[in-house]
Amino acid sequence: MREHLIGPMTAADEVGALRPRRLRRLAGLRRLVRETRLSVDQLLYPMFVVPGEGVETEIGSLPGQMQRSVDRIGTAAREVADAGIQAVLLFGQAAVKSPEGHEASSPAGAVQRAIGEIKETSPDLVVFTDVCLCAYTDHGHCGVLHGQTIDNDASVERIADVALSHARAGADVVAPSDMMDGRVGAIRSLLDAESFSETAIMAYAAKYASAFYGPFREASGSAPAFGDRRGYQMDPGNAREALREVGLDLEEGADIVMVKPALTYLDVIARVRAEYDAPLAAYLVSGEFAAIKAAAARGWLDERAAALEALTAVARAGADIIITYWAPEAAGWLDEGPTH
Ligand code: PBG
Repeated sequence: MREHLIGPMTAADEVGALRPRRLRRLAGLRRLVRETRLSVDQLLYPMFVVPGEGVETEIGSLPGQMQRSVDRIGTAAREVADAGIQAVLLFGQAAVKSPEGHEASSPAGAVQRAIGEIKETSPDLVVFTDVCLCAYTDHGHCGVLHGQTIDNDASVERIADVALSHARAGADVVAPSDMMDGRVGAIRSLLDAESFSETAIMAYAAKYASAFYGPFREASGSAPAFGDRRGYQMDPGNAREALREVGLDLEEGADIVMVKPALTYLDVIARVRAEYDAPLAAYLVSGEFAAIKAAAARGWLDERAAALEALTAVARAGADIIITYWAPEAAGWLDEGPTH
C-alpha cells in the first residue's frame, strides 16, 4: 500500500489499488466530489433593445433571442428575473446613426429608457449596460474616426459620456466594450465627478478581435462599414498581453474584468484567474452560442448537455460571472438538477 503513496504505480503493484473510477460509480458520489458547481447566480443575460414600438423580433442568427423595443422590454425582463436570473446586460441600437454616434449618450435613447422600464417591472434585477459606439456610428466602428483611423482620445471622451448617460438612467454597472486605451479611468473620473461613485464598471478587459462575434453584429447592426476591429481589439495569438490589459483596467478602477470570447479563450480565463483576485467575467459570445444551436438543430448535438458542459468549462477555467444567451434556459435546466 505504501508504495503507491511514494511513487508511480508499477507493474509490481497490486493491480487496481488506485482506481479513480470508484468515485464515478454512482450519480450521488459524482455530485459529492464535483469540483465545479454551476449555479444560476453566475449567469448574466444579454438583451437587445431597439428603437420603435411594439417590436419583438427573433434574431435570425441567434435562435430564441429577441430584439425588443422599450415598451416590450419590461415584461421580458420580468420573465428573466422570474426564471431566477439576477442580472441582465443591455445592448442598444440607434434610430439614427451618425459619425460620432450621438444617440448613444442621449437620455431618450433606447437603452436609457429601457433601464427605467426594467427597474419598474423588476426592481431587484441588476442592470448592466454595454457601453460602446458601434451600434450608433454610421461607420460601425467602436470609436470616433479621424479620417480612416480611430481617434483614441476623442473616442474615450464620447464613451465616458455614454457611460454617464447610462448611470443617470439608473444602470447599476456600466460595461465598456470598445477597447480604447484609458477608457476605464475616464469613465471612473467622470462618474465620480457627477456623483455616481456607486455605479460599478465591468471592463471588457481582454476582448479579442474574434470571428465569433458574427451573429451579434446582425443582432445589433454593428458590423464595421470598412476595415475590421484589429486595430483596437486584441490579437487572438496573445495571452500575456491579456494580463497586461486586465492589470491596466484594474489600475484605472474596473470593479469586474472580462475575458471575451470564453470558449475559445479558456486558457486566458485561467491565467487571469491565477494572476488576479478581482471578480472575473467571461462572455460566451454569439458565435459560440450559435454554433452549438445550429448543430443541435440538425440533431448533431444535444443542446442541453452541450450548453451545460460549455458553461461548466467556463466556470472551471475560473470565471465568476458567465455572460450567456442560454441564461434563462440554463436556469431551468439547473433547477431540474444534474442529470449525471
Ligand atoms: C460591441 C460588442 C460586440 C459584442 C459585445 N459588444 C461586438 C463587437 O465587438 O464586434 C459581441 C457579443 C457577442 O458576439 O455575443 N463592441
